[in-house]
Formats: sequence, C-alpha cells, structure tokens
Amino acid sequence: MSESRNVVIVTGIPGVGKTTVINTAVDKVKAEHDEEVLVLNFGTEMFSTASERGLVKDRDEMRKMETAKQREVQRLAGESIAEKAKDARVIVDTHTLIHTNNGFLIGLPEWVIRAISPKTIVLVEADPEKIALRRSDDPTRSRDEQASEAIDTHQRMCRAAAVAGGTLTGATVRIIKNRQGKVEQAGTELADTIME
Ligand code: AP5
Repeated sequence: MSESRNVVIVTGIPGVGKTTVINTAVDKVKAEHDEEVLVLNFGTEMFSTASERGLVKDRDEMRKMETAKQREVQRLAGESIAEKAKDARVIVDTHTLIHTNNGFLIGLPEWVIRAISPKTIVLVEADPEKIALRRSDDPTRSRDEQASEAIDTHQRMCRAAAVAGGTLTGATVRIIKNRQGKVEQAGTELADTIME
C-alpha cells in the first residue's frame, strides 16, 4: 500500500445505493487485484449493541431513539469499529448525518473520526428524485418518505459534514455519483480509492 492509512469511510444518505456500490467495489478489488477488503458496517455494529440492550427491534428504529441513547450506542460502535479497522484494507459503511426526530445527528463526531483516522471520506450521491424512488421500491426496509427538496438539502449538508471530518483528520473527501443504472461506474471509482 502506498498510503499508510488503510480505512476508507463510505457515506451516503439512505436509498442512495451505498451498500450496492460498496459490494461492487469489493468484488472489483478481488477480481482485479486479488485482495480482500473488510467491510465494517456502523449501523450493524450499533444495532447489535442497541438490540442487546433491548432498545430497538430493527435497524430503522435506531434513528428514532432518544438522541442521548443514539450518541451512547454510537460511541460504543465507534470504539469497536476503530479496534477492528487496525489491519487490512477496510471500508467503514456509515453516515455523515443521520436524520433523527430531533434534527441531524452527526454520524462521525470528533471522537469517532479521530479514532478511525480514515485516508478518504467518500460521499455516494445520486439524483434526489431517484433516491426517493429507490426508497419507495425497497420492500425490505421501513425507509423514511421525504420530498426531493428535503433529500437534496440532506445531501448538501452531508458534504459540509464530510469536509469537517477531513479538516479534523487530514482525510481527502471524494464525491462518487451513483447514476441510475450505472452502479459499475461508481464501483470502479470506489475500487480506485480503496487501492490508492
Ligand atoms: P445503514 O446500515 O447505513 O443503512 P442505510 O442508511 O439504510 O443504508 P443501506 O446501506 O442499507 O442502503 P443504501 O440506501 O445505501 O442503498 P442500497 O445499496 O440498499 O444505517 C442504518 C442505521 O444505522 C441508520 O439509519 C442509523 O440509525 C444508524 N447509523 C449508521 N451509522 C451511524 C453513525 N455513524 N452514527 C449514528 N448512527 C448511525 O440500495 C438501495 C436501492 O437502490 C436498492 O434497491 C438498489 O438495488 C438500488 N440501486 C442502487 N444503486 C443503483 C443504481 N445505480 N441504479 C439503480 N438502482 C440502484
């Protein structure tokens, strides 16, 4: 690895296709470089902590918990992820801003982002209209319904939050567009970022 840091944080608002882009990139890295990438999902880590404590029954309930509880579970998940991300090439799948009942919760507060010390923070973005459609077409989750304008505002604010994370850690910030039907292209850009 030419870079001493080994973690890429991948963010994107719900419905943008973040997980699909990550899976595409991991497959490309395996096929083209014969290397494994460890994917650590922040939501899964939080869900395991929150469900063990009887706080939630599914992952979509987490952003509706009391803010103080979300912060506490977030801190525990951040510590666990930072520990697991010490070796290998790692993607941390998470959010820069979570839309809660009490405004936006910062997904990567100082103590989390400093512990992870990423080389790059990626923002996966898509057209707000397409995000609204991808959410309503997903029967497996209870996704929030939001007007395109609110989705657009959320994506713009995520850019600001990603830059704040870069300012604290020296990480680069990269925007990857997940255009409709073009997930391969987005996956190639992410694979290049992982292998940089
Ligand atoms: P998380 O686990 O990240 O869930 P999520 O936000 O719903 O995101 P996913 O990765 O499941 O889905 P996605 O929307 O990116 O897209 P998908 O690939 O499925 O977070 C869960 C919860 O954990 C959060 O709500 C929060 O409470 C908590 N959390 C996480 N991190 C936190 C943090 N740091 N601090 C505090 N709380 C935190 O794709 C969606 C659909 O689009 C699919 O049907 C797919 O086929 C389709 N699609 C994708 N790409 C394309 C394309 N190019 N063209 C056409 N269709 C496409």
